Amino acid sequence: MSELSVNHLLGIKYLNKKDIELIFETADHFKEVINRSIKKVPTLRDITIANIFFENSTRTKLSFELAEKRLSADVINFSAAQSSVRKGETLIDTVNNILSMKVDMVVMRHPNPGAGIFLSKHVNASIINAGDGAHEHPTQALLDSYSIREKLGDVAGKNVVIVGDILHSRVALSNIFALKLQKANVKVCGPKTLIPKHIESLGIEVETDLKKALEWCDVANMLRVQNERMDVSYFPTTREYTQQFGVNKALLDSLSKEIVIMHPGPINRGVEITSDVADSNQSIILEQVENGVAIRMAVIYLLASKIK
Ligand code: CP
Repeated sequence: MSELSVNHLLGIKYLNKKDIELIFETADHFKEVINRSIKKVPTLRDITIANIFFENSTRTKLSFELAEKRLSADVINFSAAQSSVRKGETLIDTVNNILSMKVDMVVMRHPNPGAGIFLSKHVNASIINAGDGAHEHPTQALLDSYSIREKLGDVAGKNVVIVGDILHSRVALSNIFALKLQKANVKVCGPKTLIPKHIESLGIEVETDLKKALEWCDVANMLRVQNERMDVSYFPTTREYTQQFGVNKALLDSLSKEIVIMHPGPINRGVEITSDVADSNQSIILEQVENGVAIRMAVIYLLASKIK
């Protein structure tokens, strides 16, 4: 039987191509399950999962919880804002206290890059990184590639541009790793101040002209400007950012071919993307969210099968 090469999902960096193929094949099965009238399987009745979120989330938190419940796992939710973390408890103490209640798997979102890696070395449970600062967001990249595969038949050979705040984006880094593993061609596009130095060393190209980037691509993955991670200004005004790096319907219609528009959410409508683009037939934003549940069911199922 095929299994993942890893015991935790800490980042796409630690996966290989076969891992991604296995996750997608497993997600295909779960996507069929969640479209049945009875959307639940009894597979993980003996598994308990803790979702611990030290940062805000809508999609990822709900999607993980739904995925766990669809697999019949027992689920506990922990929000740092209402916890003893506020009284000074450390991350390791917090998680070990949760684990002593016989928890098998931890899904964690944390503002610090590497928090999941740190945890995996100090606690006895399978860890899934649900986003660690500006580092990685592996399940988002998996559902993004899965959505491209679903829409265009394959990821290999496709031209994908990631547009916006690349510097502060865990989605960008995980997507670059995932897309390169699957042999897609990748460019990033945004203000020079929001593109990390030496990013080309990841095997990708930088394009600062949005129109050229969109003419080149099959898929544009539009990212939000992460103001909450900025302590200085990276561009003059939001209006100027939108003029240079925002996608609107007129721009899309001026291209020589129809491209696919993606966005990991949350969207800042009217900044990186206008409503008529977000809600257009070219957008697969809600398909991405739907696929997130199947992808997370697949990841949880495959990791759980390694701890049984
Ligand atoms: N895409 C994503 O991570 O969204 P949330 O922050 O709402 O989880």
